[in-house]
Amino acid sequence: MNDQPSRAGVNARIAAVRTLDAVLHRGRSLKAELAAALPGLEDPRDRALVEAICFAALRQRARYDAALKAWIAKPLTKRDNELRALLMVGFAQIDALGLPAHAAVDATVEAARSLGRAHQAGMANALLRRALRESLPPADAADAWPPWLRMRLHADWPQDYRAIVDAGATPAPTWLRVNARRVARDVYAGKLREAGIESIAPENFGEALRIEDSVAVAALPGFDAGEVSIQDGAAQRVADALSAAPGSRVLDACAAPGGKAAHLLERDPSLRLTAVDSDPKRLRKVAETLARLGLDAGAELRAADAADPPGWWDGAAFDAILLDAPCSATGIVRRQPDILLHRRERDIVALTALQARLLDAAWAMLRPGGVLLYATCSILKAENEAQIADFLARAPDASAEDLGDRFGRIAGAGRQRLPGEEGMDGFFYARLRKKA
Ligand SMILES: C[S@@+](CC[C@H](N)C(=O)[O-])C[C@H]1O[C@@H](n2cnc3c(N)ncnc32)[C@H](O)[C@@H]1O
Repeated sequence: MNDQPSRAGVNARIAAVRTLDAVLHRGRSLKAELAAALPGLEDPRDRALVEAICFAALRQRARYDAALKAWIAKPLTKRDNELRALLMVGFAQIDALGLPAHAAVDATVEAARSLGRAHQAGMANALLRRALRESLPPADAADAWPPWLRMRLHADWPQDYRAIVDAGATPAPTWLRVNARRVARDVYAGKLREAGIESIAPENFGEALRIEDSVAVAALPGFDAGEVSIQDGAAQRVADALSAAPGSRVLDACAAPGGKAAHLLERDPSLRLTAVDSDPKRLRKVAETLARLGLDAGAELRAADAADPPGWWDGAAFDAILLDAPCSATGIVRRQPDILLHRRERDIVALTALQARLLDAAWAMLRPGGVLLYATCSILKAENEAQIADFLARAPDASAEDLGDRFGRIAGAGRQRLPGEEGMDGFFYARLRKKA
């Protein structure tokens, strides 16, 4: 049989190689690179394939690097960066995605030729065929984590270190949030079933449905009509943790792209919400999200530094404040595997300082008796329980309220969800009450 790979199939592999090369070797973000590369592919199945290849290659980077080290006599140099990306693209198709040989190998080898690497096509072919025949050599998923982060992780979570690292290399399920204003959860689950997608309704969640595989937004019925959003279960817990009273004046101090703001408004149209974000481009996403979900009348949006209230605040105290702070995102490595390539130790110093400034500023805008919910998608204690311990030490009018086991394990005055637990992302929550 002599099946030539289709041009579209080869182009998809080229797009995956270029994306991965930019992320692995030029410090680019996976999200931005995919956003630039995918529109060039006509068929939505090719776009989904490129995405799946890049995510799998980054999640399994430690194993694929170990295979390259064991199987190539001469170590790859910087000049071979594109070749390294190409081989990872091949391994991901064979190992993680389980594609048949003709799809995985032939199209990838043809991509090598199209990329001007005809002289390396034979080598690529041999290595990919070896991956088809043999299992990849064993590797430690922790090798994909930078040493400084591994050390911190170990110091913070000695018992859970292994589970956290393994969770980072495991694909995440898709969590949906059904828009309670548009459709009931069980009705939406029925629409999914009709579309051939099975979901489960996790216990103790009002609006969540979980699908075990990854699902493209385009495949979700009623997405454009605002019936559903994609949001991890841990992020959906934020609305439970804040639990603002009807009619409350609520500040979402770091609101973009607007997932949690939208959830709050879907649940309770009577909230008077001010959504602030310092990044105007990202704030436009909040406007788009709220418009899609039919919630745009419920919020006032401000592009401003939330830590500098004189620049934007009218002086009327808020009843409840959500501070979903900028953080290391170390709890969502399985969804953004390139975090492990781009995060630097000095970022943590800058982030903890910014979080403290945001906490102090937000606290001053909260009315006596009001509640501030501090949340991050980090698993580092410096950004979470230590940050809150420092805050409580300098805010004598603050006391922490325990949220209970639904929010993960006790972590100082807050609760920590570790990645992978109950299918969720890593997340931290601390509910702080201002003395009346
Ligand atoms: C974790 S994200 C928020 C996610 C959002 N709450 C949601 O559910 O979609 C943190 C946000 O904080 C914003 N941010 C960073 N520094 C800020 C500041 N000083 N004031 C306001 N927003 C800030 C970032 O632009 C980013 O959008």
